[in-house]
Amino acid sequence: MRVRLLLVFAGVVALVLLVHDIPLARHLERVERDRLVTRLERDAFILAGRSEEALENDTAAEDQALAGLVARYHAADPDVRVVIVDADGTAAVVSDPEDRAEDFSNRPEIVTVLDAAAPQTGQRFSNTLGYDLFFVSVPSLSGDEVVGAVRLSAPERIVSERVADRVRGLFLVGAISLVIAIAVAWLFAEFVSRPLRRLRGTTQSLAGGDLSTRAMDDEGPPEVRELAAAFNSMAARLQALVDRQRAFAGTASHQLRTPLTALRLRLEQLSGDDLPDDARRHVDEALAETDRLHRMIEGLLVLSRAEDAAVGPVEIDLADVVRERASHWEALASEREIRLVVTAPMTLPALAVPGAAEQIVDNLVDNALEVSAPGTALTLVAVAASDGVELHVVDEGPGLSAGEREVAFDRFWRGERATPGGTGLGLAIVRQLATAGGGDAELLEARTGGLDVRVRFRSPSGRS
Ligand SMILES: Nc1ncnc2c1ncn2[C@@H]1O[C@H](COP(=O)(O)OP(=O)(O)OP(=O)(O)O)[C@@H](O)[C@H]1O
Ligand SMILES: [Mg+2]
Repeated sequence: MRVRLLLVFAGVVALVLLVHDIPLARHLERVERDRLVTRLERDAFILAGRSEEALENDTAAEDQALAGLVARYHAADPDVRVVIVDADGTAAVVSDPEDRAEDFSNRPEIVTVLDAAAPQTGQRFSNTLGYDLFFVSVPSLSGDEVVGAVRLSAPERIVSERVADRVRGLFLVGAISLVIAIAVAWLFAEFVSRPLRRLRGTTQSLAGGDLSTRAMDDEGPPEVRELAAAFNSMAARLQALVDRQRAFAGTASHQLRTPLTALRLRLEQLSGDDLPDDARRHVDEALAETDRLHRMIEGLLVLSRAEDAAVGPVEIDLADVVRERASHWEALASEREIRLVVTAPMTLPALAVPGAAEQIVDNLVDNALEVSAPGTALTLVAVAASDGVELHVVDEGPGLSAGEREVAFDRFWRGERATPGGTGLGLAIVRQLATAGGGDAELLEARTGGLDVRVRFRSPSGRS
């Protein structure tokens, strides 16, 4: 994305430079041409002034002096050819020793100057030389009489070479400007986008449940700093709210325990008394309800502690935990004529919050035994998977529909066929404990038609 933006930016800058440089190059060509012509005119007039006497008197000494002057001039600027003719158009001095021409009376610029006594400036193709040339010819006057003419000419390529030089310079400056513009744009983009990328990462970790995460609010442009500061105060407020709520749930559950224990004691005392059948039935039901309430409070306490996740995950042997808990449940299972099958390797290291794996297995086996019919099997599987370690608790009971599986992890949710006395917190606790250790829990349909609860743990070897 950033690279694409930079390419667009570079394109725009290059376009601006081109739009700017093309007319500039044209202008440069005009300026160079004018400058050359002005210089040739100035020099031609000077030479015409100097040659006047030599042309008029035609003495050997003056001819020689003029030839010397022209030779020096030509030596200083070899590109400029000098031709000085007398009033007939016959060459008096020719700067270029290669130039054998004697008679210049057929050259249009010489003819006009000699006839009209007016300077001539222009550009024409030279048949003799075979290229375009600029020329300036001026008359050499003695009073009003034309005694000859001076013609200076220079190849047109001088101008194009100079313009090409200047244009090359312009393009070099343009290229350097482009590189600098791209570098500045890149740095600016980094300056703005780096803190935004960091902020995105922080937002993602907040969304992932890390309420203690904070953004760096001392880098980037002021707007981004303000955004980071606003994000931080929002995160702080969110954390305070959640902390308060958790603390309330924890304290409330805790505080409820004492009066509940007192209530239970009184009911037990009452049930020990000699009561009529009707009253005893009511007292027994009240005792059962108190037990349920007690388990609910314990469940809420477990949940609030798991959410706090004060203790990080530690390494456990999941295979060991599964075998140990299975032996605990063995007696109840065989009483209900349910086969408890364990499939696990010798050892299976996994990461879990201390005590979580045991509670997870207990809750799941408790549920499964509740729905399993006599003669069916309940299978516990602990296995290494590609992205961690998995626990499956698979029963052959009635299972849950897809819609029920979606909501079954919700707190207090209980199925239609749920046995009385349940709290609806068991599966919520399973999921909370699994996520507190960095894993997750999911309900699948077992091949036997029952429920297959899959709990994933992180592996200590670093995979997932
Ligand atoms: N293995 C299962 N097969 C079919 N339904 C199940 C199974 N496990 C759970 N359920 C359904 O999901 C509901 C929620 O289970 P959860 O463990 O959260 O609460 P509970 O078992 O009703 O209460 P508690 O765990 O306090 O005894 C149960 O009431 C039951 O209807
Ligand atoms: Mg349960």
